[in-house]
Amino acid sequence: MRRSYLAELAIPGHKVPVRACVDESNPPIWLFPSVGEYPVYDDFLYDVMIKDERRTGRYTEAVRRHAPGRTVLDIGTGQDAVWALAAARAGARHVWAVEVIPESARIARKTIEEAGFADRITVVEGLSTEIELPEPVDMCVSEIIGTLGGSEGAGPVLRDARERLVKPGGVFIPHRGATTAVALDLCGATGGELPGFPSATFGFVEEIFAAVGRPFDLRVCLGGLQDVPEVRERSYLSGPVEVEPLEFNGELRPEGVDRAELTFTRPGRFSGLALGMRLWVAEGSVPIDSLFEWSNWTPVYAALSEEGLPVRAGDRFAFEFTTTISDDGVHPDYALVGELHRESGPAVPLRWSSAHHGDGFRETFFYRRIFPEA
Ligand SMILES: C[S@@+](CC[C@H](N)C(=O)[O-])C[C@H]1O[C@@H](n2cnc3c(N)ncnc32)[C@H](O)[C@@H]1O
Repeated sequence: MRRSYLAELAIPGHKVPVRACVDESNPPIWLFPSVGEYPVYDDFLYDVMIKDERRTGRYTEAVRRHAPGRTVLDIGTGQDAVWALAAARAGARHVWAVEVIPESARIARKTIEEAGFADRITVVEGLSTEIELPEPVDMCVSEIIGTLGGSEGAGPVLRDARERLVKPGGVFIPHRGATTAVALDLCGATGGELPGFPSATFGFVEEIFAAVGRPFDLRVCLGGLQDVPEVRERSYLSGPVEVEPLEFNGELRPEGVDRAELTFTRPGRFSGLALGMRLWVAEGSVPIDSLFEWSNWTPVYAALSEEGLPVRAGDRFAFEFTTTISDDGVHPDYALVGELHRESGPAVPLRWSSAHHGDGFRETFFYRRIFPEA
């Protein structure tokens, strides 16, 4: 039975066929747009995040440890104001809960009122980078970590918070983030067929295209990869490396070039990278690792080769990973340039890029296959 078929997205003024996946109840691997870097949060997404117990548990514990007696800034409080409420319940003196999506800010205000904390939590609607506080706060909590560590803008946003909104020496939760990469054999995971988008995800793709103003080659995640050990064993060809380090309590560098090298640990067909994130919520805590355990953060697929390049154990992929902040001043554009070094033959140059709101549409084989021309 075919697992994918062609559907059409509802994009005013554009005809955009999309590769969809048939078996929506349990497809082995499916596509999902990277959503966190666009204003498309809804009940479903907020709910998935709150139900991510590893994330919610570690944040709650860190907030409870640091908030008592302190003034707190919660950047991106969301409709449930989870960290703002946790801080107030733990005895924070006052919490400023900032949220850019107006509807989420409205619901947060109501949730806080109903919980009886309206006198200790002030909801501020807007972008944290554009607001003023009456005085700098003692600590800042935020969960604006993307599918790639910095893709939701944590670098520029938290650097701005440190410069303007938080007292010198103030505590930041989370403590550290990074983007991670492993070499991937996509066929190993899918059995050969390119995965598709479940129809339930079409709405997010449509909303992201609407937010940017046109269809473009948006960042795409692979669902079903991270949490099933057998799928990882069939598809991961190397151990992980880290790029884009983000030291929220140290020297925060939102832009830069990181060099890394992956060594293949077994033979396979190298089709691209699975890119994920590691997040140390508190100093010394065990990181959340989106490439190796289930979480609400799903690995991004960086497609490098359509057919997959044969590799053996000991071959290497050396690459440079460049992060530059896009013209919105917050969200990064990413570019990866690398060389595959095999036992014999010349090095093979490979590249991938992913702009937050790039102009290009169907620029590479991957996007031409997932959004085929009519
Ligand atoms: C990943 S959600 C987290 C929601 C909630 N804090 C939680 O952890 O469950 C990120 C939220 O931050 C908001 N956001 C992102 N960047 C922001 C900024 N610079 N200022 C205000 N809100 C922001 C988004 O609209 C979204 O509601």
